[in-house]
Amino acid sequence: MSSGANSSGANGSGPAAGADSAGTAGGSASLAVDGLVAGYGEVIALDGVTVTAGAGSITAVLGANGAGKTTLLRAVSGLIKTRRGQILLADHDVAGRGPEQIVRAGIAHVPEGQGVIPELTVEENLRVGMMSWRRGQRADRAAALEEEYARFKPLADRRRKLASTLSGGERQMLVIARALLARPRVLLLDEPSLGLAPRVMAQVMDLVVRLSREHGLTIVLVEQNARGALAIADHGVVLNLGRVVASADAATLAADVALRHHYLGF
Ligand SMILES: Nc1ncnc2c1ncn2[C@@H]1O[C@H](COP(=O)(O)OP(=O)(O)OP(=O)(O)O)[C@@H](O)[C@H]1O
Ligand SMILES: [Mg+2]
Repeated sequence: MSSGANSSGANGSGPAAGADSAGTAGGSASLAVDGLVAGYGEVIALDGVTVTAGAGSITAVLGANGAGKTTLLRAVSGLIKTRRGQILLADHDVAGRGPEQIVRAGIAHVPEGQGVIPELTVEENLRVGMMSWRRGQRADRAAALEEEYARFKPLADRRRKLASTLSGGERQMLVIARALLARPRVLLLDEPSLGLAPRVMAQVMDLVVRLSREHGLTIVLVEQNARGALAIADHGVVLNLGRVVASADAATLAADVALRHHYLGF
């Protein structure tokens, strides 16, 4: 479904269109990272990275440990400062904005490690996802929560339980549901299958596909599980030491024996 690629801003243009109209989904938007340079002190972790994710598509970001995958997602979501380059959401450059502004613009980030707040209940964790809403009545928020409970039944059954009592798969559901409550147009997922049993991992991958195909979300999926990610992605990008070493449609990357051997481990 790369047909929507680069149809920047086809559905709802300006930044903040999503979260401003709390209660309505934001629609699709492309994400184009161009020549991004970022790092930590002396460490240059991204050295001129260009990645284009078409509106409504799934882009897999692959590469070995330390390649810069997490740094890419952190830079796009405003958690670390970029030194050079553009981050175009639809046609708007969001590079240099802070994390709250980036969320409002329509980019949600699910960090590594199922980052729930263990001492809060499931529902309290979900409410964190609506903090970016500028407007929205109590009824809108309740309806949005119910929408996520309908999508994630195990969360509905456990809404009053502490997040610390959830299984790994349920925690992953919770952080994804929380990100969706920010009404994003672009969803950044950092290794959502890490540490999950194969069956649960497959459920998470199915969910990613549904969010893209049925809801038109643009998804950037960072994965160590390159084979699994390429099986569901439209496009793939391979990073090595902060640089893009390959960028092609997912089937082409999956068929490249040398690339698999050198960078993808399958
Ligand atoms: N907080 C930090 N301070 C200093 N250097 C860092 C920090 N975080 C990451 N790095 C360095 O930046 C580079 C890229 O790291 P990053 O975490 O983005 O890689 P990654 O591809 O996500 O790896 P992994 O597969 O292990 O999650 C590495 O050289 C890493 O050591
Ligand atoms: Mg990482």
